[in-house]
Amino acid sequence: MEPRLLKIAAEIIAKSDREHPADSVLRAELKRQSSLRRDESREISRAVFTYFRWFGWLDPQKPAAGNIFVAQQLAEKFARDPQRFSDDELRAKAVPAWVSESVEVSPEWLRALQSEPRLWLRAKRGQADRIAQALGFSWLESTTLLSDAIEYRGSEDLFRTPEFHHGEFELQDISSQAVSVVCDPKPGETWWDACAGEGGKLLHLSELMQNKGLIWASDRAEWRLKKLKQRTARAKVFNYRAVLWDGSKRLPTKTKFDGVLVDAPCSGIGTWHRNPQARWTAGANDVRELAEIQRRLLTHVADSIKPGGKLVYSVCTLSREESLGVADFFENERKDFTRLEMKNPFNPADLATRLWFWPQSTGGNGMFVAAWRRNS
Ligand SMILES: C[S@@+](CC[C@H](N)C(=O)[O-])C[C@H]1O[C@@H](n2cnc3c(N)ncnc32)[C@H](O)[C@@H]1O
Repeated sequence: MEPRLLKIAAEIIAKSDREHPADSVLRAELKRQSSLRRDESREISRAVFTYFRWFGWLDPQKPAAGNIFVAQQLAEKFARDPQRFSDDELRAKAVPAWVSESVEVSPEWLRALQSEPRLWLRAKRGQADRIAQALGFSWLESTTLLSDAIEYRGSEDLFRTPEFHHGEFELQDISSQAVSVVCDPKPGETWWDACAGEGGKLLHLSELMQNKGLIWASDRAEWRLKKLKQRTARAKVFNYRAVLWDGSKRLPTKTKFDGVLVDAPCSGIGTWHRNPQARWTAGANDVRELAEIQRRLLTHVADSIKPGGKLVYSVCTLSREESLGVADFFENERKDFTRLEMKNPFNPADLATRLWFWPQSTGGNGMFVAAWRRNS
């Protein structure tokens, strides 16, 4: 790596901490260094992420530049032969010790964490073939219910393609795509995407509803809803209403819904292959606090569901206290809801009332999904 680029990567690492996540520092720094070529920016990003992915093997007392070099060598060795890293070594170094109390840690998951993440797109319905051809370097996901998913392995800046500007595809992780497929909203229904964020799943829900019916999209972060509105305009999604909601008992509407999706804030352990710095900044306290928020969100939305309506709870994390713990809590609290059997979008023959998407089997984020129907 050229010393000039190495120096920028080392500076970004030095500025990154829990309050300043590496991806935001990186984005700001690359914007500031406007003379960098695209391939140079990409090289810097890779160096920063490789450093955090292999952080457990490094000595943080040593200068970041030397550590980046060590991390890159480890990554190359791993790419050549992942089995050269023993299960014990990965268990000790790939994640902090507290994780084994909370997550089903397997060698397969740890190897998935050390691998480069895959980039997934979601094409408008029935357009995956055409978009994959137009972009090149694209692979279709045809063995699952996720027929609009495309894996992109090229190096173009996808945000600059005409297809992106015309709203013909979105960048969306394949496991996130699976969540809206599980929701299975019908055209003409009324849904609530209670933690809509920047609208990733909202756009997909609307697509599945063929832009018919209505989706309430709420979030507590105004800036996220602002981004959501930009994305809906680009994707030509009109059947939604965006409102602020802080997750409290005071609901944003008296509407009774056919379905509610709570894609809850979580510890994000399922995204640690994509966002490796978070392994070293998140802790057991986050898991505990976020599980409490998730329990509250589910309890608060429950009364807004029509008899016969659906409640879907999803999190991009793999801790038992969130996921199963929260789902069990909700079931104990609300006897007027019955577990719903879901078709696993990655394996349609598999019917389950709790779905786990592990990165090693889906190639996407780790996620947990549970769903219930309100008794009639
Ligand atoms: C997992 S993200 C949602 C991602 C989004 N559904 C998507 O597919 O792009 C969780 C969202 O919950 C929001 N949030 C956090 N705490 C909340 C609360 N107490 N009430 C409502 N929303 C909250 C966050 O702002 C964040 O946008």
